Amino acid sequence: MELIGPALTLRPPGPDDADALFALGRDPEVVRWFSWGPYTSGAEPRAWIAAQVGRRERGEALALAMLHHEHGLVGITELAEWSRRDRRAVVGTWFARRWWGSGLNAESKRLVALLAFGHCGLERLGAYADVGNARSRAALVKAGFEEEGVLRGFHRHGEEQKSVASFSLLRTEWRAGAVAGELRGAVPEAFRLG
Ligand SMILES: CC(C)(COP(=O)(O)OP(=O)(O)OC[C@H]1O[C@@H](n2cnc3c(N)ncnc32)[C@H](O)[C@@H]1OP(=O)(O)O)[C@@H](O)C(=O)NCCC(=O)NCCS
Repeated sequence: MELIGPALTLRPPGPDDADALFALGRDPEVVRWFSWGPYTSGAEPRAWIAAQVGRRERGEALALAMLHHEHGLVGITELAEWSRRDRRAVVGTWFARRWWGSGLNAESKRLVALLAFGHCGLERLGAYADVGNARSRAALVKAGFEEEGVLRGFHRHGEEQKSVASFSLLRTEWRAGAVAGELRGAVPEAFRLG
């Protein structure tokens, strides 16, 4: 599948993305709030890309490479923590430092919302941000998510148990026409809730 927006195409990552992903994920500033990274060898992005096939087939997570129409790979976004019963998933996103503040994050969130609500049939799109990640928290609010509170000791980073702020966007709040996005191909079966 490919979801094509004004500046970005979102599609599952493949082996050919490994070198570009390595270059992006080597930046300590980009991964500062993450439980992984920065990448130190090309084997890490290659292993991550290979693992996405199984995660997709099992319905665990739908990771998408974000490709700028002119500049190629600029980041990754994924829908994880799927609950088919409750029709919800959580979006997580990272961009190379060069693209922060560029407006691409807003487009990516609109495209992911189109995918989640318009094509997958979700009712709730959640998001988490480390409580200290003020930029991410502000970006989520700007993108129309509501901050719901803090989940204490929620995320494990090494030996540390981190608290996260929780956000959500509901189908009833989603602005369906906010972005022109064309879906080519089909959303993987495991992520179509009907
Ligand atoms: C999080 C991320 C996707 C957001 O995308 P972005 O393009 O940087 O977001 P935007 O610039 O659209 O919005 C960020 C807003 O936060 C503001 N901001 C920046 N630093 C801030 C701070 N310390 N405190 C409060 N607000 C801050 C910015 O000014 C901007 O608001 P404005 O447009 O009104 O000026 C991107 O920064 C990123 O990839 N970061 C690294 C990975 C990451 O942390 N991902 C999130 C995991 S939860």
